[in-house]
Amino acid sequence: MEELQKVKDQIKDFVKECNDKKSLELLDLLATGKMLRSKLILKIAGINEESIKLCAIVEMIHAASLLHDDVIDEADTRRGKPSINALFDNKTSIMFGDILYSKAFTELSQMNREVAYTVSNAVTLLSIGEMLDVDLTNEFNTSYDKYLDMIYKKTASLIEASAKSAAILANKDKDKFALYGKNLGLAFQMIDDILDITQDSQTLGKPAMLDFVEGKVTIPYLLLHERVEDKARLESLYKKSLSQEDTLWIKQQMTETKALEDSINEAKKLGLEAIAAVKDEDNESLVQIMSAMINREF
Ligand code: FPP
Ligand code: MG
Repeated sequence: MEELQKVKDQIKDFVKECNDKKSLELLDLLATGKMLRSKLILKIAGINEESIKLCAIVEMIHAASLLHDDVIDEADTRRGKPSINALFDNKTSIMFGDILYSKAFTELSQMNREVAYTVSNAVTLLSIGEMLDVDLTNEFNTSYDKYLDMIYKKTASLIEASAKSAAILANKDKDKFALYGKNLGLAFQMIDDILDITQDSQTLGKPAMLDFVEGKVTIPYLLLHERVEDKARLESLYKKSLSQEDTLWIKQQMTETKALEDSINEAKKLGLEAIAAVKDEDNESLVQIMSAMINREF
């Protein structure tokens, strides 16, 4: 998509303005993702100087958060490529994250006040969400509310802020688009958590079934724990590296108890709520973005 190239060019221009050769080299090593937040912003606000800037700011904040997250999670890969902490070290990943993050905020301070407030507030939530995520790995979490609060803050908040800010720029109904973004974000994280179980390592670009090993009790595991007969066995596998037999048992139980199926249904329900929020807004692309996410092979 040509417009996404414009966003990439804008990011590069912002980093060039930092006058630091190493930052530009590191930028080239970052694997680009699906740019979901930018797609959303451009579908809502159209393609213009302001909306492209907003996309670049949000993508830089997102990239910074992942640079820090890969240090926190000790991840060697990101989107199928070696992560910056694996290629260099933790220090480089943190410092480059800081550069992207602060340059994004410098640019954000020059935008519309309400947009600046909305995005910066979401970054506070994002940071709290990451801390909640880490804290929730201390012991087997069985609270669905805690999981939902965490994924809202960690993932949905910035997507919600992106959609809301785009609506503000375009003088559209900000509350409707914010609700769309929030539900899209929640569904997106749930689907990510489901794919961790259903997809292989190659497709994921990172080891499969890693969440539970890392102590993350995601929605399929929450539902499984509620329903599975041998709770003690499931609890005994928490944060352990799984044998093939254990992996198979978990997957079988996920199917038998319908924990996986109902997790997919929950994500789909949020997706439909997102679509309903913008049904009067005459924005077919938003329906398509959401449908593509939920109507897929799991
Ligand atoms: C990925 O989660 C992490 C996030 C979406 C947010 C990370 C947020 C921070 C580190 C705090 C904010 C920091 C800055 C600099 C703005 P995951 O580990 O579940 O997903 P993954 O599998 O993609 O790593
Ligand atoms: Mg991570």
